[in-house]
Amino acid sequence: MYQCKKCNDRGIVLHQGVAYRCSCWSQKVLDLKIKRANLSVNFDNAKFSNFKLDYYPNTIPPDGEATYKERANKALLAAKGFVNEIKAKKFKKGLFFCGPVGSGKTFLASAIARELILNNHDVLFVVVPDFLDALRFTFDKNDEGFREKDLMDVVWNIPILILDDLGAHNYTQWTLNKIYSLLNYRLNHKLPTVITSNLSLNELENLLGDRTCSRIIALCNIFRLLVPKDIRYIQSLNNMIT
Ligand SMILES: Nc1ncnc2c1ncn2[C@@H]1O[C@H](COP(=O)(O)OP(=O)(O)OP(=O)(O)O)[C@@H](O)[C@H]1O
Ligand SMILES: [Mg+2]
Ligand SMILES: [Zn+2]
Repeated sequence: MYQCKKCNDRGIVLHQGVAYRCSCWSQKVLDLKIKRANLSVNFDNAKFSNFKLDYYPNTIPPDGEATYKERANKALLAAKGFVNEIKAKKFKKGLFFCGPVGSGKTFLASAIARELILNNHDVLFVVVPDFLDALRFTFDKNDEGFREKDLMDVVWNIPILILDDLGAHNYTQWTLNKIYSLLNYRLNHKLPTVITSNLSLNELENLLGDRTCSRIIALCNIFRLLVPKDIRYIQSLNNMIT
């Protein structure tokens, strides 16, 4: 079943022997760029305009000063600000989103990635646990095909890097060193980086060490997204009801 019946998904149409770009062409190019950036299809709807503030109540969480909504709004504004700085070639600092499960961290990071891809920036969305597994795999198979160094080259140097789920992995000294080296490199080369994590900065410091954590603080402004209930859970309840 073709998505575009005009061109049978070829992206071009023939008219009197001449090839023209089909009206679906730009969407196809965008889809390819999104795929190349490794953005998950589960986050197809992750756009700033779809980021709902309703999930974040107007009350103050037990351990905080600002309301849930104020925090979420601050994080959303920071995400938009980051995109605008890059568009204007005035990048200052990356972003670190932490918070509990289902609080919208990956949504915001994906929305940033999508918006920048739309504006022709080179973005790579890296799920940290998958990446560390892939790195380990290429290291183990060192001389076959894709080398560890090739993979590192791409991730270390991509103009805009999103690191999703930092902290969700069993870290060995080897993986700890890789994370340190990556963040240190990004910092030294002033490369825009967005990080999400379930762990607070203190917890990350215990896991990754103070040298790595100090790089994160220098590389990113920190935002804590809080929700009283996992948004995933609320959405699945709503889907069951409707
Ligand atoms: N503000 C929001 N508006 C609309 N949908 C949202 C919002 N925040 C999150 N979601 C949706 O809720 C689900 C969970 O969000 P997300 O994956 O961003 O959470 P997370 O904080 O990254 O959680 P985890 O720590 O488990 O990775 C996703 O399906 C996402 O699309
Ligand atoms: Mg996530
Ligand atoms: Zn078409």
